[in-house]
Amino acid sequence: METEIWQVTEGEAGRRAIARAAEILRRGGLVAFPTETVYGLGGNGLDPQAAARIYAAKGRPSDNPLILHIASREELAPLVQEIPPAAQRLMEAYWPGPLTLIFRKSKVVPYETTGGLDTVAVRFPSHPAAQAMIRAAGLPVAAPSANLSGRPSPTTAQHVAEDMNGRIEMILDGGPVEIGLESTIIDVTGEIPLILRPGAISLEQLRRTAGAGDWDPAILGKPDENLRPKAPGMKYRHYAPQAELTIVTGLPEAVAAKIGALAAEKQREGFRVGILCPEESRERYDAALVKTVGTRAHEETIAHNLYRCLREFDQEKAEFVYSEAFADGPLGEAIMNRLVKAAGYRILPAGGGDEKIP
Ligand code: TXA
Ligand code: MG
Repeated sequence: METEIWQVTEGEAGRRAIARAAEILRRGGLVAFPTETVYGLGGNGLDPQAAARIYAAKGRPSDNPLILHIASREELAPLVQEIPPAAQRLMEAYWPGPLTLIFRKSKVVPYETTGGLDTVAVRFPSHPAAQAMIRAAGLPVAAPSANLSGRPSPTTAQHVAEDMNGRIEMILDGGPVEIGLESTIIDVTGEIPLILRPGAISLEQLRRTAGAGDWDPAILGKPDENLRPKAPGMKYRHYAPQAELTIVTGLPEAVAAKIGALAAEKQREGFRVGILCPEESRERYDAALVKTVGTRAHEETIAHNLYRCLREFDQEKAEFVYSEAFADGPLGEAIMNRLVKAAGYRILPAGGGDEKIP
């Protein structure tokens, strides 16, 4: 299959691209499209065959449910059994935006889309191209992140093309995304809202808006046989870089010294070594593959660049990568959640000891 790539620019050309995407979606095809978080791989959310095609294109297990994307609050009601008061408040505060809510599903949502669950994930993205496409298609658009299973989520149309060329009908190129990490997922079906996946909307924001809220206990720390994450996707290793990634924690000087020493040792042994650091400590490293992921002063920049840097290490065939930790501000939870998983929970305190800690 030839994958069409269209730019979503302002004006007539952009409108034609959106119309073409909508036509493909209505006919059961797949279209990758930009959102404010990461690129999504969209199909008709009410069509079991489209869901099957999405799983096939990603190489993803079909028990991992998809998020339905809508383009107005009114489109929610037919998809769900009820809209609890906490959900209402969260929608008013953060929709459109990087927030996915889990509801009890109505009959119109096929089990193929929800991975067999009685609940459904719904998000109203703020990206204008995503909204225009969903509106033009006139459908809820089921969309996981547009990466092959096991790769970092795509934050540019080029990343999507690397993974999806020849596997889907179309890519809408809207340039680099804004946030760079997937949406916060909040389950509003229980007594108190639970965060199933950290993202740009923080626990503090949830509590302030809904009056209560907590983490799904299963996503704190290492996966535990007896504690299953409520978001099925969170149980997977997710992204496993080709390199062995290690996060080094501690005071800045100690971290830089430890990473420098580890990198030098591996380089002496003849390996390709990468280092991931913020601008603040760039000067402290002189190994070949040092990547500056952003600045600690604006952790948004770290979220924005993280997946791109991880993809680049893969492309450059790094064999060992050492990263500083980025657990500082409100986005720190989301950044570290992705980084720690990519590292397979390999975290090294700079003070010594090489045991793995969650
Ligand atoms: O920002 C985002 O959320 C992006 C953009 C494209 O919107 N989408 C995204 O989708 O990250 P995906 O499929 O890569 O991740 C969806 C996550 C998975 O961990 C899945 O298990 C969880 O949402 N999920 C979906 N439906 C669920 C449900 N009914 N109950 C619990 N978790 C659910
Ligand atoms: Mg994903």
